[in-house]
Amino acid sequence: MKFDLVIRNGRIVSPQRTYAGDDIAVKDGKIAAIDRSGSFSDSKKTIDAAGKYILPGIIDAHVHFREPGYEYKEDFGTGSTAAACGGVTTVMDMPNNLPFCSTPAALKEKLRKIKSKAYVDYGLVVAIVGETVELIPALARAGANVFKIFMGSTVGGVPAPDDGGMLRAFERVRETGLRVGVHAENNPIMDYFTTKLKAAGRTDPLAHVEARPAVAEAEAVQRAILLARTAGCRLHICHLSSREGVVLVRAARAGGMDVSAETGPHYLLLDENYMKKVGGIMKINPPVRSRDHAEALWQGILDGTIGMIDTDHSPHSREEKFNDDIWKVSPGFVGVETTVPLMLTQVNAGRLSLNHYVKLAAENPARAFNLYPRKGAIAVGSDGDFTIVDLDREGTIDGNKLHSRNTVTPFDGWKVKGMPVYAVVRGNIVMKDGEIVGRPKGRHIKAIVRF
Ligand code: DOR
Ligand code: ZN
Ligand code: ZN
Repeated sequence: MKFDLVIRNGRIVSPQRTYAGDDIAVKDGKIAAIDRSGSFSDSKKTIDAAGKYILPGIIDAHVHFREPGYEYKEDFGTGSTAAACGGVTTVMDMPNNLPFCSTPAALKEKLRKIKSKAYVDYGLVVAIVGETVELIPALARAGANVFKIFMGSTVGGVPAPDDGGMLRAFERVRETGLRVGVHAENNPIMDYFTTKLKAAGRTDPLAHVEARPAVAEAEAVQRAILLARTAGCRLHICHLSSREGVVLVRAARAGGMDVSAETGPHYLLLDENYMKKVGGIMKINPPVRSRDHAEALWQGILDGTIGMIDTDHSPHSREEKFNDDIWKVSPGFVGVETTVPLMLTQVNAGRLSLNHYVKLAAENPARAFNLYPRKGAIAVGSDGDFTIVDLDREGTIDGNKLHSRNTVTPFDGWKVKGMPVYAVVRGNIVMKDGEIVGRPKGRHIKAIVRF
């Protein structure tokens, strides 16, 4: 058989093991065969991965590519370029667009707008706002991959349903077999601290961290767990940032609940003191907290409580990011292009194994968001998505060289060891050595659901 792509001589990495000696053949977008090196001679394209590691395509299940409505920050073309260049082959895109992606009409329009621009595959997260709870089945039919409730106020001002509405939403999502992700922060608690800090004249970066304390996250995580468990709905906690949050998710999972959680490189690798150095650049919701919280998040990763690394890639313009008054700075920064090198650097430092990273960044998000085993695995029949990495390659993160429309990053100047050298999406080579090759052929990937 003539294959479309054969990847030779690499070391294949799964959550369980790393092994050499097999080649991988892709045909019509799917992995057609995996067999002893040298077995496949006839292929249109070949990648020689000698000395490299072949990972399942990396998934970033939390990005804001801003389309439609905020294209001046990012659009699907620039965002997915950044993803591919960073070795990410599938993203889940967030719904705080203009209009909100919260109705079947808005979802269909978004799918139409981004269709020809994407370099990587994508799923769409759809917002549940007060009025749209009853639209949930129609949204699932229209192609929603995940539902999202913004429990705390943040960019775009997507309103949350009240607690009764949330319970109803969890009941309706349960019928679809999909999952609800929550941005878990408690508004009244944050309002209380914000008012106090503003009255005291605080405008410095750390005031933002104090305005959104761990208890605000913990209260919302606890409430979401209680309501979702009552409704029997699968729950996902977005961007977990606190020790208290880890404790709650750990207990819920131990009690048998299907609750997944993600954290991001910034919560693991930065702490609030770094904000004194870089200022408002680092402002994000929820905030990056003290070292103690970061250590608890690492513990959560190591014991499986936190199953995913996602970036919350949330670009803003320079004008929106640079202001001496922290209250006027927009929260969020880019991340989709830096996550793989940052985490591989942690692998090299011995903080986690490469196999564990594959579980966190490929298998687990694919499972949680109904894409497995189409995504998240190197197996015959799975999509031909690969992130090929060179664990020895060193580099420096340079904000000016990132591919997003806006590239303000707190990781500017950071040294990394371990970099993606190829990104392959359904057999198409889309990135080589950090730059785009080929055309935008990314597709919307439908959730695999059991009705
Ligand atoms: O800091 C954040 N930025 N947190 C969010 O929840 C939204 C995001 C954005 O869209 O900019
Ligand atoms: Zn959020
Ligand atoms: Zn987000």
